[in-house]
Amino acid sequence: MSEMILEGGRPLLGCVRIQGSKNAALPMMAAAVLHEGEVALHNCPRIADVFSMERILRSLGAETCWEDHTLRICCRNLHGFEIDREDAASMRSSVMLMGSLLGRQGCVRIAYPGGCTIGERPIDLHLKVFQAMSARVEEQGDLLEARTPDCLWGTRICFPISSVGATENGILAAVKARGTTLLENCALEPEITHLCHFLQAMGAEIGGIGTRRLRIRGVRILRDAQFWVPPDRIVAGTYLYAAAATRGKVELLDVPVDEIASILRVYEKMGGQWECNGGKLKADASGVRRMVEYTRTQCYPGFPTDMQSVLMAVLLTIPGKGRIREEIFEDRLKTAGELKKLGGRIHTAGRDAWIIGGGPLTGARVEARDLRGGAALAVAALAASGTTVIGSAGFVERGYEAIDADLAGLGARIEMR
Ligand code: UD1
Repeated sequence: MSEMILEGGRPLLGCVRIQGSKNAALPMMAAAVLHEGEVALHNCPRIADVFSMERILRSLGAETCWEDHTLRICCRNLHGFEIDREDAASMRSSVMLMGSLLGRQGCVRIAYPGGCTIGERPIDLHLKVFQAMSARVEEQGDLLEARTPDCLWGTRICFPISSVGATENGILAAVKARGTTLLENCALEPEITHLCHFLQAMGAEIGGIGTRRLRIRGVRILRDAQFWVPPDRIVAGTYLYAAAATRGKVELLDVPVDEIASILRVYEKMGGQWECNGGKLKADASGVRRMVEYTRTQCYPGFPTDMQSVLMAVLLTIPGKGRIREEIFEDRLKTAGELKKLGGRIHTAGRDAWIIGGGPLTGARVEARDLRGGAALAVAALAASGTTVIGSAGFVERGYEAIDADLAGLGARIEMR
């Protein structure tokens, strides 16, 4: 696996454009399966997870092609319903194909999905949705098979907890189901709204978009569509916090400002300043000096779990004592151990991390443990003196299209090898 080498100690200065959203693009790719025709995704990020999903789609009989950042997917001749074990294990979002394959083929076989190791990550809620819609689900070891007797039937489903993936899978399953599906207590993450808008462009009938209560009337046929994948709120947050950690001044283009309100609020608490014009965010982080005493991750619109380790990296640069509580995933504080190797003073217990910031950070050899944790290590490395080598940097490439070029464009000394 590749390594990222950074030499820290200088503020980030300059301008960078934010890539298309990973978590929006992946369910849209799964949605393409529902249509016996072609969809085009513009501004699609060229990242490892998207390539993995593309590989799975091709193995099912889809035709795909890229023109710059436009990904065309044609599922006219889809024939398969079985997802290769290795492909399923390589990425969590392979589970999204369950809803769309059930809707299209009435059958799906898949190994339990992989992804970042940040906790148990069960898929019981996804399976309950399919069962409620009349599918029979059988487990044989780590293999799952779901089948519909004739088709999926619309019904009312109330999620016991907020789950992004289960909500998306419910939507995908409902689009071509017979009758109307009511999904209640849905997650509110923006990527769900984007998926709904894309499906609407394909001819799906969805009401209540952006609320906890979605109403989906099944349709028989969808149509060709094209869609602009919105910018990635977590990548925007990462680069903003990288500026904060180095007390830099950056301009971020194509920022989904409304979607990063909670990230900006924490940035302001640190003393960061920003202004926004259209999608251009000008951030002056030279005044970042206030410790944020307590932050907890929450479902949207709360502070995102995907920014938790990145925040931890920034807080290490600010004198004082702060606490971060991880509310979404039970085992997502692993990056703390790597940040300690850079000199970070962090104590973790259960879901809490206490950070004693302001001490010197010094370059060292560290290992990325997951996608966002790898990005957090890069943020800390930018603030550290000397050279940091981040091993297993391939994790970062799962979600960041060109973190090396982006940060180099902001003046960072960074190299991938
Ligand atoms: C998605 C995002 C991920 C983000 C997460 C939370 C994608 C591709 N990934 O992941 O980046 O960190 O939302 O914002 O969009 N749960 C169950 N049973 C289930 C499903 C989930 O108990 O069947 C639990 C999970 O263990 C977790 C919580 O629900 O504790 C939320 O998970 P969920 O929102 O489903 O996350 P993902 O969709 O996997």
